[in-house]
Amino acid sequence: MRTSTTPSARTPFATRLAALAAGAATTLALLAAGTAHAADPPLRDLGAAKGKVIGTAVTGSKLTGTYGDIAGSQFSSLTPGNAMKWGSVEPTQGSFDWTEADQIVAFAQAHNQQVRGHTLVWHNQNPNWLTNGNWTSAQLSTLLQNHISTEVGRYKGKIAAWDVVNEAFDEDGTYRPTLWYNSLGSGYIANAFTWAHAADPNAKLYINDYNVEGVNAKSNALYNLVKSLKQQGVPIDGVGLQAHLVLGQVPSTLQQNIQRFADLGVDVAITELDIRMALPADSAKLTQQAADFKSVVAACAAVTRCVNVTVWGFADSDSWVPGTFPGYGAATPYDDNYSPKPAYHGIAEALGGGSTTPPPTNGACTATYSVTSQWNTGFTGQVKISCAGASLSGWRASWTFGAGQQITQAWNADCTQSGATVTCANAPYNGTVPDGGSVTFGFNGSWNGSNPVPLVTLG
Ligand code: G3I
Repeated sequence: MRTSTTPSARTPFATRLAALAAGAATTLALLAAGTAHAADPPLRDLGAAKGKVIGTAVTGSKLTGTYGDIAGSQFSSLTPGNAMKWGSVEPTQGSFDWTEADQIVAFAQAHNQQVRGHTLVWHNQNPNWLTNGNWTSAQLSTLLQNHISTEVGRYKGKIAAWDVVNEAFDEDGTYRPTLWYNSLGSGYIANAFTWAHAADPNAKLYINDYNVEGVNAKSNALYNLVKSLKQQGVPIDGVGLQAHLVLGQVPSTLQQNIQRFADLGVDVAITELDIRMALPADSAKLTQQAADFKSVVAACAAVTRCVNVTVWGFADSDSWVPGTFPGYGAATPYDDNYSPKPAYHGIAEALGGGSTTPPPTNGACTATYSVTSQWNTGFTGQVKISCAGASLSGWRASWTFGAGQQITQAWNADCTQSGATVTCANAPYNGTVPDGGSVTFGFNGSWNGSNPVPLVTLG
């Protein structure tokens, strides 16, 4: 189909192509084969270049198809979202089910990824037989030791880091009155680390919590505990900041807080990052979310001992948020259909990538496609053509859409779609892209299934 340019005057396409060929002749030599802006390297490669491991929580049964492709290619660490919790692995006392946990570990090994084990000691998602039992303190302590020895021992050598103790504090910095604390006192924490270390001396052992990203009463309590554990020689290696955040509310003291933990001589990881927003999402919220993700990852990138940033599910369709916070969601870097959101690019930019606004390669012109807003069946996109060390006089940008993607209207370019191929030529007034300058054109389209970002070719 043919789409109109607005506000340009129209020119027959064949005429325009002829003019394009003539006009482009002087610059084609500069447009080597690859003038299109290639996609950024995967997040895991960007992270590696900065010395950071980039992870995601996963569900084992989903690790096929597009979900598996993204989990395997973009991330260098996997955290089982639920599969290693006590309630998952020992639903009946003495009867173990390691199926999903094994599956995730095997997937990680096949994709050269680390695994973060999550979590050994928690007050949630424990088996009923445990929480309903009427245990003495001695019995409970033995049960906990056996659980830690069994699970850590099973995966000895295969887990880079364990969240040994999860969510030990209340918001005011007092110990959370859990099954463990109420029966065993705060000493359960040091014991848990000691038992885990005995079962796998090479695994990094973390204490993990939420609402401890900024400096506050809860993170102060965590800080004091870690300091004390280190002084006692307890084998603790790291602090996990979960980072279940709210749009526009990244704590201003995040980097300072990461740094003060690092200064205690422990590693720090952002372990469960998501940033939720009131639904529906719109372009302003998604832009803010990109800035928020970028600032969290940048804070970690700025501290040498911040070693890992893990998102709590990489796709909105796989997030715990809507089920727990009705009316909120869209908290992850990929949308329901596994297309990267601006948040994805925010992460990439914090790691030195820049697929939203790539700098033109010196001596070439590049074209970058981005989706600026998207809704049920439609979207608005744009392509920015930038030149550095070269110029264009008459241009044509083309790309191949996936199934279900269809351009319906364009402005500042003359666009046609034939089958899956879209070709856009300059409008009469924007054919020149000077050295150091750029031209942007936009379009509306429809989509179903998924709406991936294609690679744009210039020439
Ligand atoms: O597996 C059952 C399924 O059989 C059943 O049909 C279904 C019906 O609701 O429930 C399924 O279990 C759910 C489980 O996730 C697996 O999907 C539970 O109801 C649900 O409560 C559970 O939620 C998990 C939550 O921890 C529990 O507190 C989330 O997936 C998981 O992402 C979330 O993760 C926690 C971290 O471990 C610790 N930090 C906070 C974070 C978010 O809550």
